[in-house]
Amino acid sequence: MKKRVFSGIKPSGTLHLGNYLGAIRNWVADQDRCENIFCVVDQHAITVDYEPAALRQSVRELVGLYLACGLDPEHCALFVQSHVPEHTELAWLFNCITPMGWLQRMTQFKEKSEEQREQVSAGLFTYPALMAADILLYQTHEVPVGEDQKQHVELARDLAQRFNHLFGETFVLPEPVIRKVGARVMGLDDPTKKMSKSTEGDGHGIGLLDPPALIRKKLSRATTDSQRQIVFDPARPGVFNLLTIFQALSGQSREEIEAHFAGKGYAQLKGDLAELVIAALEPIQARYHQITSAPEYIDQVLAQGVVRLRPLVESTMLRVRQAMGLR
Ligand code: TYM
Repeated sequence: MKKRVFSGIKPSGTLHLGNYLGAIRNWVADQDRCENIFCVVDQHAITVDYEPAALRQSVRELVGLYLACGLDPEHCALFVQSHVPEHTELAWLFNCITPMGWLQRMTQFKEKSEEQREQVSAGLFTYPALMAADILLYQTHEVPVGEDQKQHVELARDLAQRFNHLFGETFVLPEPVIRKVGARVMGLDDPTKKMSKSTEGDGHGIGLLDPPALIRKKLSRATTDSQRQIVFDPARPGVFNLLTIFQALSGQSREEIEAHFAGKGYAQLKGDLAELVIAALEPIQARYHQITSAPEYIDQVLAQGVVRLRPLVESTMLRVRQAMGLR
């Protein structure tokens, strides 16, 4: 039996190289080996301030990018979270059995609520219960994500265990799958912070749809340090991040990469990396423009995804409602 894989991305701004290397690229690489479900998690995107028209646009852009990056609707069910209302039904049920302490420990909530203080929404606080619902609804075995989502996937696993203990064996226990290289791509402007969709500023992230000239410019300005040697040294976060991106895209070993840059300067590193990034993104961008020129195709893929998932969604929810005494 193939392992069932579920993952998702928030449609909250342009996808960047971190989302690609930490998530989508790995989904694509494993899609033949697994039974795949990939979601555009629009209900997670509304936990912070947003514009309805921009959200609608981002959802379509994200589906276009899923397809352009190589997800094949023959191998994957692709869909939008709000098109399957059981996600929020299950999230409510999970809210009722999730201890507040578990949610208070989530580092992502702590970071985001510090920025927003009193304005922080209740939805942002209970976000991990909705994410657990996304994963557990499909009896998922593996959740391929970047490093920053590990804690949330572990909470989903803990909740599955808690539910099974309280109400009887119902859910598969999911596991996070995190690749060694590319699981935490850092900002180009500040390599001590992870590359993020919500960080403003032109020099922070590389967008998957950035044109070549912009990619060269952003990389040429990336923060490095005043040393010379180009080696993988985590104590030098700027150079380490650039080399890690190089490693993820080239598939070369650290030794090969260090040998390639021996005696060379940062300008060469940035220039070579820019050409590697451009070569990786060019075919994605070409496919993206082709796919989005036929919007009916996207609608068709999304509708097909929902139809394919219906039986699984209904069988899980039937068991859950019965186990909890709601039927
Ligand atoms: P999101 O939308 O922030 O990110 C989507 C995916 O990209 C990964 N990622 C990164 N990987 C490497 N380096 C980075 N700088 C970087 N930034 C982001 C994330 O780890 C993620 O895999 N809560 C989730 C979305 C979600 C979800 C789910 C994921 C909702 N329900 C169920 C898996 C399963 C989020 O906000 O991801």
